[in-house]
Amino acid sequence: MPTGIDGVEIRTGNLKLDLAETFAPEKDDDPAKYTKGLGLHASSFPDTYEDIVTMAANAAKRLMERKGLQPDDIGRIDVATESAFDHAKPVSTYVAGCLEQVFEGDFHHANKGERKFACIAGTQALDDAVNWIEAGKNRGRAALVIATDTALYERGDSGEATQGAGAVAMLVDEDPDLVTVDPDQGYGSADETDFLKPNQQFPSVDGKRSMQVYLARMREALTDFERSWGDTHPDQFALVPFHTPFPGMVRKAAVLGFRHLMRGTDIEDALESEIGRQPRRDDFADDEAFMDALSEYTDALGETDRYAEWYDDTIESTLAISRHVGNWYTGSVHLARAAGLREAAQAGVDLAGEHLLVASYGSGAQAEIHAETVQDGWEAEIEQLNVEDQLDDRYDISWSEYETIHEVHDYDETTDVDPFTTPSREFVFDGWGRMGERK
Ligand code: HMG
Repeated sequence: MPTGIDGVEIRTGNLKLDLAETFAPEKDDDPAKYTKGLGLHASSFPDTYEDIVTMAANAAKRLMERKGLQPDDIGRIDVATESAFDHAKPVSTYVAGCLEQVFEGDFHHANKGERKFACIAGTQALDDAVNWIEAGKNRGRAALVIATDTALYERGDSGEATQGAGAVAMLVDEDPDLVTVDPDQGYGSADETDFLKPNQQFPSVDGKRSMQVYLARMREALTDFERSWGDTHPDQFALVPFHTPFPGMVRKAAVLGFRHLMRGTDIEDALESEIGRQPRRDDFADDEAFMDALSEYTDALGETDRYAEWYDDTIESTLAISRHVGNWYTGSVHLARAAGLREAAQAGVDLAGEHLLVASYGSGAQAEIHAETVQDGWEAEIEQLNVEDQLDDRYDISWSEYETIHEVHDYDETTDVDPFTTPSREFVFDGWGRMGERK
């Protein structure tokens, strides 16, 4: 029985920082650096009563209610995060504790864990859940996979403009409504130190280098994927959701992906008179000369109409939510998939039976490329997302409120600040170990 994602829910932090109106003027920057250069308009932030547990629990609660599930239907809860506050007790136990307050029964039978490998951990948890079911160990139960993060950087860090906060909950089951996660996958993995959080809340990041590492690991993963999939062609994939730290990063990765997928195809033939053929390593004396030629070819490819058309069809729609929420770390690529599917449903495009190429990445560093197939129930499922309402309902913080809320979420500071928004019938944070549903 094919296995994959049966349902998805997202939960954004309840606050919004507008990059053009609020952030850029304080940094004395041209707003276009953020809106055009990085491709970001706003970041989501958690209010004073929100953290990785509350966002995860609220996303999972809505998903379980919508799917008519009780704890007995779930045999596994895995949370992926790089914002954990506990080195021993996994976030999934806190989330299960919240859910047990509102559903019948308990999760005592469920295997719970926490997955860590920077942003790619969300996809690793998804892979684990699929493998658990396909190995026949689920005994008829589904898995809950939740990617949740507060992606905050030190004030003044180069990453500050790319912050974000939110959770993506996925129900993984046999015969799924949304997509199957298919066996073809490829990896690019190396020991890298461009983005670290060694016993610290905010990352130490070499931003420029992190972008190079992202592209290098993606290149390896694509090559490895092709070994599994066989001959590729860009038109084989209806959508290509990438890990999206900011849309400008995906712009750089997408052309590289297109170049890989179109090698040896009719597209390369058709573009030959315009930009030549793709350089092959054997034609060059050393790696440096080859890489220079490849980079020149990639730049020229990015300027072609054929590439622009592919980008508009397969990439642009996947960035529709990220532009307004920033980096959600482990949830980011899953948000990109949801955004692409949602935009297709709204445009009346039928994706049933089409393939997705999902490009995940985590610093440290590892990329995974895998294929998915869209299922018949995808449209009805994705139309259930209330993401527009959630984004519209966010409270737009001023610069001084931003300074306050950043400090509230700094574990080293103790700040007692009233919330900016009012939670209703949702899980809220009211002190370590005490989560409650506010009626
Ligand atoms: P920066 O150095 O402040 O920005 O931060 P910049 O000067 O490079 O400008 C950004 C872009 O805006 C550039 O575009 C500029 O040209 C353009 P590019 O040349 O690169 O195409 N620009 C303008 N465009 C139009 N009008 C203007 C204008 N001005 C400038 N007026 C940096 C950029 C990425 C370094 C920073 O945001 C950062 O450090 N981010 C955090 C690290 C990060 O996100 N890395 C991405 C890859 S690693 C990753 O994805 C993993 C991660 O999610 C963590 C994990 O896995 O756990 C981060």
